[in-house]
This record gives sequence, structure tokens and C-alpha cells, in this order.
Amino acid sequence: MDDQDPSAHDDSMLAANQRIWGFETNYGGLADLSIVKANQLMPKPTHLSWEEAAVNALCASTSYRMLVGGHAARMKQGDNVFIWGATGGIGAYATQLVLNGGGTPVGVVSSENRVKLLEAMGCENVIDRRAEGYEFWSDEHTQNEGEWRRLGKKVRSLIGEDPDIVFEHPGRSTMGASVFIAKRGGTVVTCAATSGYMLEFDNRHLWMKLKRIVSSHFANYQEAWNMNDLICKGAIQPVMSEVFTLDQVGDAALKVHQNKAEGKLGVLCLAPEAGQGISNPERRAEIGEDKITLFARHARGEL
Ligand SMILES: NC(=O)c1ccc[n+]([C@@H]2O[C@H](COP(=O)([O-])OP(=O)(O)OC[C@H]3O[C@@H](n4cnc5c(N)ncnc54)[C@H](OP(=O)(O)O)[C@@H]3O)[C@@H](O)[C@H]2O)c1
Repeated sequence: MDDQDPSAHDDSMLAANQRIWGFETNYGGLADLSIVKANQLMPKPTHLSWEEAAVNALCASTSYRMLVGGHAARMKQGDNVFIWGATGGIGAYATQLVLNGGGTPVGVVSSENRVKLLEAMGCENVIDRRAEGYEFWSDEHTQNEGEWRRLGKKVRSLIGEDPDIVFEHPGRSTMGASVFIAKRGGTVVTCAATSGYMLEFDNRHLWMKLKRIVSSHFANYQEAWNMNDLICKGAIQPVMSEVFTLDQVGDAALKVHQNKAEGKLGVLCLAPEAGQGISNPERRAEIGEDKITLFARHARGEL
């Protein structure tokens, strides 16, 4: 961010030269050494290992801005929040933020194994989209409103109400359904379009029911700092399922690409092995090893 640029001062994500490192620029943070500005740094949670601390920065901050920060959906206590990919990178932090903020998450996943993980996180309202067999598109060009309705009914059967907020990122495959199931006056917050960028929804369901679609992208420094603070306090846990070395980074990326990973994958850069860097083991014990390592234990088949 350019501190001479007035547009950056209310919200640095609005700065003309804002870029996400490694996403909007080449060469990201996967390196032995990186040069950064002081305002790209945050305190490392002392109860976490290097890799448990590192996995949080991008997705946790993104979910925080989408749900909690002042610029996107602005979740309130008691809100019902429908979360696509609720054990994925951003979804697993979203699920925790809703539970921590006094809301009710309805989490969607695509396997029994992920249902088990989501329940272990404390999410009571879970939808297995594969088991339900939703077909929101009848063919490449036509959506099936009957399937949106079937999903909406499923949500009502679980929580008795429509979602105040829909946490949207799959994009083309789900946006029509997301706009439909949001409650009257509700908000669809989107930060991505994994399955396709050209989104379609029935505008009648949006305008006549006074819904909002809100965009969100990463987080400003304050939002990232606030989220890191929640992690330092042990209110939000890292969601690291596996650890890779720097030369295995292609395998890790492929796993994410194929939707075979839960939560986040850690990559060791300078750390010679996993588990190092915990400078406050007493704090770790207070927060609870089981909570901190839930995703890793699930990946090892120990849940
Ligand atoms: N704007 C930003 O600042 C920002 C920041 C971080 C991430 N992102 C973007 O957000 C998206 C999600 O990131 P992530 O790290 O959470 O990825 P991820 O770890 O791969 O998780 C995505 C989840 O979405 C679900 N999913 C995938 N395809 C789907 C479909 N067609 N319909 C319904 N659900 C589907 C999967 O869950 P199930 O199969 O279990 O349902 C998966 O666990 C990516 O496109 C990423 O680039 C944006």
C-alpha cells in the first residue's frame, strides 16, 4: 500500500496498487527467504509451530473480512450462516468464526469423512452435497430451480429458517442456489469462483426479496491483525491437515486442485522439520492439543 494514496487510508484493500502476494503477483511466500514490508508482518502465535502459524494468514484473514470485518457481510450474533466447503481452506475458518461469534453455521461438504470432521468442529447442521445429489445445472446453459428449492428446504429442515448470510466461493456451480436460499434481506458474500467466473442467478429472487451480493477480497492489515489476535488467544484454531517440504509443493498444490485436502496444507521452508517453533507450550496445553491438531488427526484417520 502507498501511504501517499488517500484511497488506501480508510481500507487498504481499496488502494490502487494493492496486490495479493503470489496471487496477483508472481513469486509468492513459498521461499526460504522473502523480503517484506513491516506492515505485512504479524506476531506469530507463541503456542503454534511455524507451519501451524503460517497456514492461517491468507484464508483466516479472508474469512474474517467476509464475515466479521466492517466491509462485507457483517455477521451478527444469532445469524444463520450457510457455508459452502465448510472444511476447506476458507470454509473451515468461516465455520469457526460463526461458532465463536454466536451464530449458527450450516456447513456443506462432499463426503462422509468430511461430515465427521465438521461435526468434530462443533457444527451441528451439516449437508453432504454428494449424498444429497444436488444438480443445480440441468445442462451447461440451464439451471434447475427445483434443485435450489430442494436445498432451501433442506436448510429449513435443519434450522427452521433461511440463512442470513451465504458464504459463497464455488461460483458458477452454486451462485444461483446461493442467491435463492439466502433469506429475504439476507446477504450473499463472495470472494471467489472456483468452478467458473461467469455467474448466473435469477435476479427476481435477488431484487424482490431485497437480498444483497457483497464482494470481498483478502483483508486489510487491521482485519488480518484482528484475526491473528483471535488465533493468538486460542479462540480460532489452525486447520492444518498435512505438512509438505518445499520441494513437495507441487504435490500439495495438486491435492488442493483435486479437492483432496481438508483445511490447509503446511509447507516447510526454513524449518527443518514439522513441530518446531512452539515457544509457549504451557499456553498450548491450556488451549488444548486436541483442538489445535483436529485437522491433522482427522487426516491421519484418528477421529
Ligand atoms: N479473494 C481472496 O482473497 C481469497 C482468499 C482465499 C481463497 N480464495 C479463493 O476461495 C476459493 C476457496 O479457497 P479454499 O482455500 O477454501 O479452497 P479449498 O481448500 O480447495 O476448499 C474449497 C472447498 O469448496 C468446496 N467446493 C469445491 N468445488 C465445489 C463446487 N463445485 N460446489 C460446491 N462446493 C465446492 C469443497 O468442499 P466439498 O467438496 O467438501 O463440498 C472444498 O473443500 C478458491 O477459489 C480460492 O482461490 C480467495
